[in-house]
Amino acid sequence: MHAIEPRPLTARHNGPLHGRARVPGDKSISIRALILGALTVGETAIAGLLEGDDVLDTAQTLRALGATVQQCGGRQWRIRGVGVGGFAAPAAPLDFGNSGTGCRLMLGAVGGCPVTAEFDGDASLRKRPMRRVLDPLERIGARTLASADGRLPLTLAGARDPLPIVFEPQIASAQLKSAVLLAGLNAPGATVVIEREATRDHTEKMLTHFGAQVRVEAAGEYGRRITLTGQPELVPAPIVVPADPSSAAFPLVAALLTPGSEVILEGVMLNPLRTGLLTTLKEMGALIEEVQRQTEGGEEVADLLVRGSPLRSVEVPASRAPSMIDEYPILAVAAAFAEGTTVMRGLKELRVKESDRLAATAALLKENGVEVEIEGDDLMVQGRGRAPGGGLVATHMDHRIAMAALVMGLASERPVKIDDGSFIATSFPGFVELMRGLGAELSG
Ligand code: S3P
Repeated sequence: MHAIEPRPLTARHNGPLHGRARVPGDKSISIRALILGALTVGETAIAGLLEGDDVLDTAQTLRALGATVQQCGGRQWRIRGVGVGGFAAPAAPLDFGNSGTGCRLMLGAVGGCPVTAEFDGDASLRKRPMRRVLDPLERIGARTLASADGRLPLTLAGARDPLPIVFEPQIASAQLKSAVLLAGLNAPGATVVIEREATRDHTEKMLTHFGAQVRVEAAGEYGRRITLTGQPELVPAPIVVPADPSSAAFPLVAALLTPGSEVILEGVMLNPLRTGLLTTLKEMGALIEEVQRQTEGGEEVADLLVRGSPLRSVEVPASRAPSMIDEYPILAVAAAFAEGTTVMRGLKELRVKESDRLAATAALLKENGVEVEIEGDDLMVQGRGRAPGGGLVATHMDHRIAMAALVMGLASERPVKIDDGSFIATSFPGFVELMRGLGAELSG
């Protein structure tokens, strides 16, 4: 699915940003809508699907497993499902490209069905750990037939008679939770996931939307206990995908960092388990107003009015990481332009994202003249209210490193170049055009 040619890009300061924009649909919700649509009996209509490579790759794997997935134009999609447990054995390996979410959720969905499938992905995905998902799936009854060191490519034989399990993940991960719940769909009785720290709850919400019985209770200070009653008949229900807050983060921080900017980002999802970046930026003094709050597709959304703002440093506690796990590269860029040292704690999981994002974020800043340090799992950024820029950033097949570096270039003294912007299309197709529409100078 992915363009093979690298696409170098350069961003340079070009004055304030102005205008309105709507970023594409949420990646997490788009992937879940396709997967759950494929497990219903009947046809699900999806509006506003993210047409990014990660989602398109997942759609392709669902076709290979027997679902009918149609693109109807205008980001409207239709999916005819095969029912819980109804996947057919695919004729060829399933290729998830760059998508950890697509791959891990589908390991769960396939792991609960009596089919065998080979899972594969690009060079970035092949480095990422899958053992965390395979362990609970093996307890449910799936078998890993071939895998180098718990990584892709791997072959999974789904459970013939899946067992309901009680699972307490050791890592705060919505992908891991979702994989177990999706496998548990085809098990008799109650599958229980007990999270120590609550992670994004889109799977639980969407399962309920499709008619499954899901009970969510508080567990401990930050945690949740999720109980799914297995073997439901999932019934199609229309899905509206709201704008992705993790994508909105890039034009939002770009507007904050360029004095005189005033930008409105429309219909951004404000699910409380995704708003850690907004909380943090407001603590730093960012002028962000939520206007037109409403509910769309079962989620709170609002237009965000963002103004260029002087920022001050802040300490971000580890407990906030699950609600802003994808936003640290862009927060680190914002921190470089704040006054003082920003400390971000508990970033271990960043090491196993599309790249080693902790190292890649630190390198991005260093390359552009910003002082930065990694101590254990914490990142410290020395903000000086300005940044020299002038660097060439290695993006390591990571869309969020690419976009964070380009935002840096829009605010720094000298232009910032990236080696490859082609992976931006995994989550934010049209990023360059949207940013140019707001007045940003991005060139190839
Ligand atoms: C996601 C969960 C997060 C996040 C990813 C999307 C999801 O990963 O980084 O971009 O949709 O469930 P982890 O579950 O590995 O933290």
